[in-house]
Amino acid sequence: MTDHTPVAYTGPTRVLSGVQPSGALHLGNYLGALVKFAKLQHEMDTFIFVADLHAITVWQDPAALAQQTREIAAAYLAAGLDPTKATIFPQSAVREHSELAWIFQCVARLGWLDRMTQFKEKSGKHKERSSVGLYTYPVLQAADILVYKATHVPVGEDQKQHLELTRDIAGKFNHDFGVPAFFPQPEPLIQGPGARIMSLRDGSAKMSKSDPSDYSRINLTDTADDIAAKVRKARTDPEPLPETLEELTARPEADNLVGIFAALSGRTKAEVLAEYAGKGFGTFKPALADLAVEKLAPVGETMRRFLADPTEIDRILKAGAERASDVAAPTVAEVKKLVGFWGA
Ligand code: AMP
Ligand code: TRP
Repeated sequence: MTDHTPVAYTGPTRVLSGVQPSGALHLGNYLGALVKFAKLQHEMDTFIFVADLHAITVWQDPAALAQQTREIAAAYLAAGLDPTKATIFPQSAVREHSELAWIFQCVARLGWLDRMTQFKEKSGKHKERSSVGLYTYPVLQAADILVYKATHVPVGEDQKQHLELTRDIAGKFNHDFGVPAFFPQPEPLIQGPGARIMSLRDGSAKMSKSDPSDYSRINLTDTADDIAAKVRKARTDPEPLPETLEELTARPEADNLVGIFAALSGRTKAEVLAEYAGKGFGTFKPALADLAVEKLAPVGETMRRFLADPTEIDRILKAGAERASDVAAPTVAEVKKLVGFWGA
């Protein structure tokens, strides 16, 4: 995309990410996002929010939205996010996200948004009936990140293009307003075997909450029996596991299961192959089922325990929103001044 000669940003490093409260979380969300959040909170100042403003780009039942927000917060806590380390909050409770998003809508170019593949996928055949918010979704995402001047953004592979747009918006803002080091150029943190978990029914489709088959994904709230049954029924091929990663590339289902094993056990795919090469799925699947149950069943249980005490979740979200606002407000005040608004 556009090149706006970046100047080194010298502010503090900061992590930011979020997940939408628009359906049950699955293994892809857990490995691609939540596990990384929990790890990063020990390394950098970390902001993790529930993307409820993004969720309403498609219809959400008003009677269910607040509870869905608590469920994502419970998943964050169950995955190991510690509210004394990370700032955890609902996006809609920090008005600065929306305020900066409007200004960024006037910085981003129509041509940039026209290239966004996620909009094309989500709007499908009925583009003209999609909400305008679904189209400008990545601009709000840029505001989420830059309102905290975040430098590192842990996400799954599917968010890469939105991060590129964020960098373009940061660069154009800095250039247009003559402040070359005002916004950082945030870096996506995508690496690792969990970055793109595929469907258990089809190795060429992403694991997704919108897949009609529940057997395509492992939900964080699945019971131990469900988890084991889904791994047992996962699609595979008749060959034993190969010696090398190259031989895996032509076998998407096998590759996916090896990737899940690697991500859940904190190993590389090569290390997993070193142990299982030559063994068939009759051996590998039960080992994966045991590992998945061992790692995921406690996450579901912890989520349920947090959800039994919504007052505590609400307290965490409220305190997080206040802390987030304290960081976001000065950025928006400076931006208003730079844009030249009256009274800024
Ligand atoms: P979403 O549920 O689409 O809001 O995604 C929340 C987070 O999970 C984002 O960082 C996504 O990139 C990540 N994610 C979603 N699906 C997958 C997947 N199948 N594999 C890895 N990461 C994923
Ligand atoms: N678009 C992201 C997703 O669907 C969610 C999101 C919204 C996000 N704002 C963000 C992720 C800012 C990282 C940073 O997964």
